[in-house]
Amino acid sequence: MSATTTPSVPTPTAPGSLPLIGHAHRLARDPLPFITSLRRHGSVVRIRIGPSPAYVVTDPALTRRVLVTDAAHFVKGGRIIDALRVFFGDGLATVADGDAHLRNRRLMQPMFNTSHIADRGHAMIGQVRTLVEAWPEDVPRDVCADMNRTALAAFLVALFGTDLPGHLENEFTALMPEIMKGTIRQTLLPAWITGLPLPANRTHAARAARLRTLIDQAVDHRSDRGRPSTADGTGEPSAECPRAAARREEGTERAGLFAALLTAEPPFTRQQLQDEVITLLTGAIETTGTTLAWALYEISRNPAIERLLRDELTTVCGDRPLRHEDLDRLVHVRRVLQEAIRKYGPAWMVTRTATRDVELGGHLVPEGADVVWSPYLHQHDPRVFPEPGVFDPDRWAPGRTPAAARGSFLAFGDGRRKCIGENFAWTELQIVLATVVRTWPRFTVTSPAPSARAVVTVKPDRLTMTFASVMSG
Ligand code: HEM
Repeated sequence: MSATTTPSVPTPTAPGSLPLIGHAHRLARDPLPFITSLRRHGSVVRIRIGPSPAYVVTDPALTRRVLVTDAAHFVKGGRIIDALRVFFGDGLATVADGDAHLRNRRLMQPMFNTSHIADRGHAMIGQVRTLVEAWPEDVPRDVCADMNRTALAAFLVALFGTDLPGHLENEFTALMPEIMKGTIRQTLLPAWITGLPLPANRTHAARAARLRTLIDQAVDHRSDRGRPSTADGTGEPSAECPRAAARREEGTERAGLFAALLTAEPPFTRQQLQDEVITLLTGAIETTGTTLAWALYEISRNPAIERLLRDELTTVCGDRPLRHEDLDRLVHVRRVLQEAIRKYGPAWMVTRTATRDVELGGHLVPEGADVVWSPYLHQHDPRVFPEPGVFDPDRWAPGRTPAAARGSFLAFGDGRRKCIGENFAWTELQIVLATVVRTWPRFTVTSPAPSARAVVTVKPDRLTMTFASVMSG
């Protein structure tokens, strides 16, 4: 045991464990009520998933120890990460803690700095507007599918630039929803089933291979465009004429965030580039897509919130198109999104593995045990967020946000494995929500009230909406 105090408190076990399966039935049937109920039993609660115990941390201060101060004793790992690694390889989200993770994180960080993202803002706004304006009027639409598609389009244009060939974009768009479904299946089933030569496993493997080929083609396309060129063709730097400078500027505008990855030193191998793009694609789409779907749902049933958003957009943009510089002034848009992220996760269960016996809140977490933390659980703590089931964007208004609320908003994680795409996510979320609200004066839910279904993210079980260009009544 380390400099930490000696464990003295017995760790409570959550009620309702069944022989052989433990609490797996609760996690499968009603995961969100189950995980939030654990707070009642203590700050660290033992559950069983099949035969293995897992320790769920319900106190945000202890979650910070797991993620930040004692992160060396709680490394990324567990069954879900092992299953994802089969598909993601050693991308940033699945690579083990240690030198390789630190190195790749350092190399990738520049892609996500504020100025690089701002450079892509214009292209993202154009891409999102084209998609959203093309929705046919008054026809019920699957909002999650639409939002995932829009998030993917925004991400592709940000990542690969504005000149990604259309056939590649179309194939990415067709493939990604299938890949996401297949990946979820692979993580839920035991490894001995996903390793069998079953048709579903083969199909998933073939799609994953196709995705790697598409990424290769996108990389080749980008590398050709991004290759440094010189006026005399020698590769030596030369005095640049204004036209060459203008061409280079234009190239920068067309290039994407990926250009920053291609110039990393030391360079990424081809396999690493594929692993990183797969990781980014899967990390970027459903997280933001489901957040946007929930935000639209909540706006559609809260007329006062909708009015505030529309007034803000009119004040900031008037009749002209949205610009990236507007985003900082869209404070209500940002609050609505933050509240959607608080209320609906989107991550609800994240795991670590204890590398040694560790004391946590007076409890012993034994070496090798899975440790679970849940942004959803912390963001539904009624002591920090009164009436957590109520959608109230004004919780995030200045003066109304106690320090505890900021500490319990853990949607993007914390510490060395914190979400690398957080800044990008805020930019994309604001662009998409602002564009939908500006394009469509009226949107109406046409399906029954959705239930939250926790799979990888917290998704609405069913959500269809119509969009119309005139206000009703
Ligand atoms: C609402 C949107 C998003 C949410 C709520 C979210 C949430 C998270 C969380 C909770 C983690 C940490 C997992 C852990 O501690 O094990 C994470 C990691 C990560 N996220 Fe996000 N994410 C979002 C959007 C994005 C976007 C847009 C990208 C890419 C552009 C992205 C890429 C990643 C990557 C690569 C990691 C792994 C970082 C590492 O381990 O060093 N995410 N995300």
